[in-house]
Amino acid sequence: MKDQNSSKKKMSLYDQTAWIYDRRYREIQEEKYKSILSKIALHKRDLVLDAGCGTGLLMEKIASKHRVVGIDFSENMIEIARKKIRNSNFIRADLNNLPFRDQSFNKVFGVTILQNIEHPQRTVKEIARIIENGGLAVLSTLRKKSNKKKLVKLVEEAQLRGEETYEVSEDLVVIASKKALSRG
Ligand SMILES: C[S@@+](CC[C@H](N)C(=O)[O-])C[C@H]1O[C@@H](n2cnc3c(N)ncnc32)[C@H](O)[C@@H]1O
Repeated sequence: MKDQNSSKKKMSLYDQTAWIYDRRYREIQEEKYKSILSKIALHKRDLVLDAGCGTGLLMEKIASKHRVVGIDFSENMIEIARKKIRNSNFIRADLNNLPFRDQSFNKVFGVTILQNIEHPQRTVKEIARIIENGGLAVLSTLRKKSNKKKLVKLVEEAQLRGEETYEVSEDLVVIASKKALSRG
């Protein structure tokens, strides 16, 4: 109950501030995307999830060339994204309970999302579940709220492998891969 209320409060805060998000954060978020997209090659066949897509700032960069789905729990954030990006699907849902089958996506981005999530362990486990074997997750959090060791622990607890962690602007980013479980 306490968790639900706190999550609702956060959602409502994002709803209230959605209208000003792009004006406040576009520049700083774009710096992060530039660095992330320079490290991650997207392929034609990829199906990409933008987890916590907000107003679609990242999707604006990739949706013309790639199949990408945006998910966020704030209706107002998603509404702004929908108006900007006509050729993608958006789903309003909680990242702690993703409405997708196992191994549905090849790549998952979640930029500046982990710092505010009620149960980040659960979110990362959900993300790990819906990535196909061999796929990648690129997740970030505000630097002031975490550190490299914690971030790597978070992905490794979800059975992902931390390939690289680095800092860009105010964020700490982890690139994590999902390997097939060995049968041996
Ligand atoms: C700081 S914004 C980042 C938005 C976007 N990734 C970007 O790069 O601009 C965090 C986003 O995560 C969403 N979010 C936070 N917790 C969530 C949750 N539990 N489920 C779904 N979305 C969530 C918020 O609504 C918000 O749009």
